Amino acid sequence: MTVHKRPFVVAIDGPAGSGKGTIATGLAQRLGFSYCETGFFFRVLAWHLLHLKLKPENIPSIENVMASAWFQKEWKAFDRSILREEHIGTLASEIAKISQVRTAFTEFQRQEVLQEISPGVILEGRDTGSSVFPDAECKIFLTAAPEVRAHRRFQELQQKGTDISYDQVLKDLCHRDENDTHRALSPLKWDATYHKLDTSSLSIEESIQATEHIIHQTLAENIASSGNASMAAIS
Ligand code: DC
Repeated sequence: MTVHKRPFVVAIDGPAGSGKGTIATGLAQRLGFSYCETGFFFRVLAWHLLHLKLKPENIPSIENVMASAWFQKEWKAFDRSILREEHIGTLASEIAKISQVRTAFTEFQRQEVLQEISPGVILEGRDTGSSVFPDAECKIFLTAAPEVRAHRRFQELQQKGTDISYDQVLKDLCHRDENDTHRALSPLKWDATYHKLDTSSLSIEESIQATEHIIHQTLAENIASSGNASMAAIS
């Protein structure tokens, strides 16, 4: 009988603009791990609600959308670039407070990881190390000063030709921080089980190298404590 061991899980959490997506993508490429962007789930649902003109208060309709064949089958193929707009992120943060949404997505995300055949998975979001995989082998909490994060987001939006001021981006980001850290369910928070990294003064390359170092250290500690040969193969 073949026992399917779940992959090595790296959970990266942090606020908007802390560099999670860019760092997780770079890490996944370097380590040969797969990558799961959990914010995508909330953004797709937000886009769909806007499209159907549904309000976040309309919980039964939201449950219907999530149970629909479209959501069950086709959402993964959704064009990610149109989901990066600020109003989608803001609505995603609103619907992320709804318990039915969180429960369903947490389960989806766990299943994604458990079905993975690659040796490791980088999960990235707000609660991947606190709720989705509290027993993740490696947890990293990324932070950066709000002004630095707003500046990064502002540059990203400018490159796309979006007409928005820096002040507005900073205001939206602080509003989202407030929402994500103060909600009742699975708020964004870190504890001693996380390695904390402030990326305020780090380049993308420096941030990837710093996180890669944390992961390699954790892998080495795991191998030393368990003598696990399959982990040695990915270190
Ligand atoms: O990471 P992001 O900016 O794409 O996430 C958009 C919103 O989705 C974020 O403001 C809160 C919500 N979210 C969440 O509640 N839990 C996650 N694991 C990921 C995202």
